[in-house]
Amino acid sequence: MKRFLKTGAVIAAAGSGERFGEKKQFKQLKKRPLLFHTLNPFLECTDIFEIVVVVPEENLELVSRELASYTSAKPVRAVAGGARRQDSVLNGCLALSDDVEIIAVHDAARPFVTSKLISATIAGCRNTDGCIAALPCKDTVKKVMNNQIQSTLNRNTIWLAQTPQTFHRDILIRALKQNMDATDEASMVETLGGKVAVTEGFSGNFKITTSEDWKLAEELIIA
Ligand code: C5P
Repeated sequence: MKRFLKTGAVIAAAGSGERFGEKKQFKQLKKRPLLFHTLNPFLECTDIFEIVVVVPEENLELVSRELASYTSAKPVRAVAGGARRQDSVLNGCLALSDDVEIIAVHDAARPFVTSKLISATIAGCRNTDGCIAALPCKDTVKKVMNNQIQSTLNRNTIWLAQTPQTFHRDILIRALKQNMDATDEASMVETLGGKVAVTEGFSGNFKITTSEDWKLAEELIIA
């Protein structure tokens, strides 16, 4: 039998809300801020032993107070984020206990993640450096520059990355410290030569980016 590896979660919620127009992670979605909806499946997931929520410095005190009023069987803490997503994720990773060996990174803006999907990414790390949730692409994908199609990609090989993105601690922290410009953790681990698997996500695990996404989330959320 394989050795048990303790898993912690980092929920990235330190965005400034530039594209959305406000910090959506604290906006009320039905009766609770978005961030707390996202937190729930991580609290419920029996494979997660510790959670760090990364928030903007100016919100740290308030969020820490909110979290302290939570009764949870596992430690849940908040730390301050950084300028870029990877800076925030690195701060979160470094705040986890030393005995955490697997880290599941998740966007606060994806509140419909399930405890089952979190566990699937963790299980997927058994024989690789990491495993991420992703969706097989249904549409035909074009590479476009200046309104001109450059090429058509083979959609059978295209998957759309979501989160959770889960990795062995050492390679994730090493990748985050490289100071690369990347939009997800997997690409940084790939650049280091790490092997990253995918497990199938679902379209409901979308990232709230626009006001249309917010309206959809309001329709879908069970308060
Ligand atoms: O900007 P993007 O949509 O990729 O952000 C994904 C997640 O990363 C969001 O939940 C956001 O709050 C978080 N983030 C962060 N620190 C930053 C920028 C984004 O934690 N500096």
